[in-house]
Amino acid sequence: MKNYAYVMAILLLIVNCKDINEIKPVNSLKSTLKDNFYIGTAMNESQIEEENPVVTALISKEFNSITAENIMKSMFIHPAKASFDFKLTDKFVALGEKNNMFIHGHTLIWHSQLAPWFTEIKDSTELANAIEHHIKTIVGRYKGKINSWDVVNEALNEDGTLRKTVFLDVLGEDYLPMAFKFAFEADANTELYYNDYNMTHEEKRNGAIRMIKRIQEKGIKVDGIGMQGHWGLEKPSIEDIEKSILDYASLGVKVAITELDINVLPSPWDLVGADVNQNFESSKKMNPYPENLPDSIQTKFAKRYQDIFKLFLKHQDKIGRVTFWGVNDGQSWLNDWPIKGRTNYPLLFDRELKPKAAYDSIIALKLKQRSN
Ligand code: G3I
Repeated sequence: MKNYAYVMAILLLIVNCKDINEIKPVNSLKSTLKDNFYIGTAMNESQIEEENPVVTALISKEFNSITAENIMKSMFIHPAKASFDFKLTDKFVALGEKNNMFIHGHTLIWHSQLAPWFTEIKDSTELANAIEHHIKTIVGRYKGKINSWDVVNEALNEDGTLRKTVFLDVLGEDYLPMAFKFAFEADANTELYYNDYNMTHEEKRNGAIRMIKRIQEKGIKVDGIGMQGHWGLEKPSIEDIEKSILDYASLGVKVAITELDINVLPSPWDLVGADVNQNFESSKKMNPYPENLPDSIQTKFAKRYQDIFKLFLKHQDKIGRVTFWGVNDGQSWLNDWPIKGRTNYPLLFDRELKPKAAYDSIIALKLKQRSN
């Protein structure tokens, strides 16, 4: 009798679903947003090693895309000119494949967390060869497995000019098309992105557009622009985010939100006359919520995420992926930047891995859309 009731309940569930996928639990980000864009998270080393089974289960339940937060940066994956270390990246890719996830590679050419041997090269041919070897070895190894790459990361200054790096110094701006060309030659089907922060700022946005156009004019493929999305409770405005999405999309490329988090703490740069070198570490003013986030800020935070996702949904035809920069508040880089040892609350899951009101605010947005 008990079994009969169970079978009937399952059958009822099935006949009430238009499609078999609807039987899956609806209360996850990836099931809620499955028709809109990939929803991703950055994974740290411990998560890639699957050290905590609860976190592992949460990641596969909520997200259908992953990015490695650090392990694929050149200082880790290519620490010496003649040696690569693929151990953790192999695990990361296997984990993504096992869970049928969209796997994003971060990052091939970046001046920061750079393998030190790159900076020793002063000859342009030698550096071009080193970049080719670096990109083709890494992209080639994961050909057909890694779905998109940040080919170049953070090449721009805030005024839209090119950042002074070892790459610019030795090769001039040719290093940019060169990097995209090598990545394409290694895997013609993976998506190739330029990724940067403050991509909503007008001067930087114009610089990014000029840069992408110059690469495209050479007949070299760029598939997308990554707007990192390290944003605050107030800034950037929804209007500036929207203008940026539209301007980038008008280049004929996809837009991805690649490193989303909302910083709720005061910034030393916002203080009038603040000296950035001042020691704020023990300052209550700069670390105002060491125990928990007050309800008023939690509400503001949830509303901010809801407004942002409302915009993403409006432009879902232009946005391929939205990735959070971490799973939960405890792991966020924003606990240590720009001031070490603060307690920040930038993500959708709290330190106990519980979904916050902001999580519900995103789900609610979609449920409302469905009922309209
Ligand atoms: O590897 C060392 C380890 O050996 C040492 O024990 C430990 C002690 O602090 O530090 C480890 O290095 C840390 C590294 O992450 C790897 O975990 C660095 O201190 C730490 O500064 C570094 O921070 C990373 C930062 O990039 C470096 O620029 C953050 O975790 C990571 O979230 C952040 O991510 C960047 C994106 O790649 C690009 N866009 C901006 C974003 C935020 O800065």
